[in-house]
Amino acid sequence: MLVDPAGRKFSYLRLSITDVCNFKCVYCLPDGYQCDHDRDFLSLNEISNTIKAFAHHGISKLRITGGEPTLRKDFIDVIRAAKDTQGITKIAATTNGYSMHKHINNWVDAGLNAINVSIDTLDPRMFNTITGHDKFSRVMQGIESALESGIESVKINSVLMKQYNGRELDSFLDYLKHRPVTMRFIELMQTNDNKSFFDANHISGQSIKEQLLRDGWQPIIRDVTAGPAQEFFHPDYMGKIGLIMPYSNDFCNTCNRLRISSLGKLHLCLFSEQGISLREYMSDNTNQALINQLARYIKTKKPTHLLHQGNTGVTTNLSMLGG
Ligand code: 5AD
Ligand code: SF4
Repeated sequence: MLVDPAGRKFSYLRLSITDVCNFKCVYCLPDGYQCDHDRDFLSLNEISNTIKAFAHHGISKLRITGGEPTLRKDFIDVIRAAKDTQGITKIAATTNGYSMHKHINNWVDAGLNAINVSIDTLDPRMFNTITGHDKFSRVMQGIESALESGIESVKINSVLMKQYNGRELDSFLDYLKHRPVTMRFIELMQTNDNKSFFDANHISGQSIKEQLLRDGWQPIIRDVTAGPAQEFFHPDYMGKIGLIMPYSNDFCNTCNRLRISSLGKLHLCLFSEQGISLREYMSDNTNQALINQLARYIKTKKPTHLLHQGNTGVTTNLSMLGG
């Protein structure tokens, strides 16, 4: 397995296959996607080799991210490539959900086990304000289709922001009462692009946690392999809640994931100083060089991010790496 100097073991790869996105979320791409480099994203062959090299090192869970990963015409082939890789037992994707209602059954047939969908609000007008697209009902229809598809896990990601959806916690809770969905509240993170937005909109995850505990939500005991999310259940609700609180003190202790960008860079942390380009090794179908490079670079992973000091590394916005 890949083990870093802090003794953390890595079982989870987040693989970005494009940084293009068709939404304009206020916290991520408020001006829409701007291309400042060649759109020379990893090929299917490079993706397949990369998954194999990580699987060789004991990675068992893969998440396909973007940008918006489903914009790639070969998205389903990426799922199949993962499915065909020995050792990969869980294939997840993160999407904004715009085309899920049409394709979810095909994705599940190809091997997709879990889907996370970004839905920051349950109010159609607010959805339009936050994402720049009038697609609320279509995305919600996608969630219902996902629940009917037999997929193992459906999660909704939501970033609560003071000036937008900050008072919607209760409506999300109502929604969870009768739906077997996990809601994940992700604390707004500062990136290079969004400093003043961050200052005006950040809501601490701790305050959400306190409200949940007051309302009778109970922490779920974490598995040793679980990542940094803190999870909660409530006996009266079908759904569960996860809190992602990157500013909490011990957040990085349970880090179990590595990231590859759509241009083939290894990011040891979402907020690391710079990615390490491994692309030159990704087209070699023997994978040996890539396997060796991964073993080498894991030794350089730092124990924690420096977000507390306002150091966001090179992360301009999260569409670069899919969160
Ligand atoms: N802070 C927190 N979460 C973010 N995401 C994107 N940008 C940010 C940010 N600045 C999350 C979105 C989406 C996922 C892909 O990344 O919630 O669900
Ligand atoms: Fe696109 Fe996701 Fe960024 Fe929204 S958060 S603009 S859906 S990449």
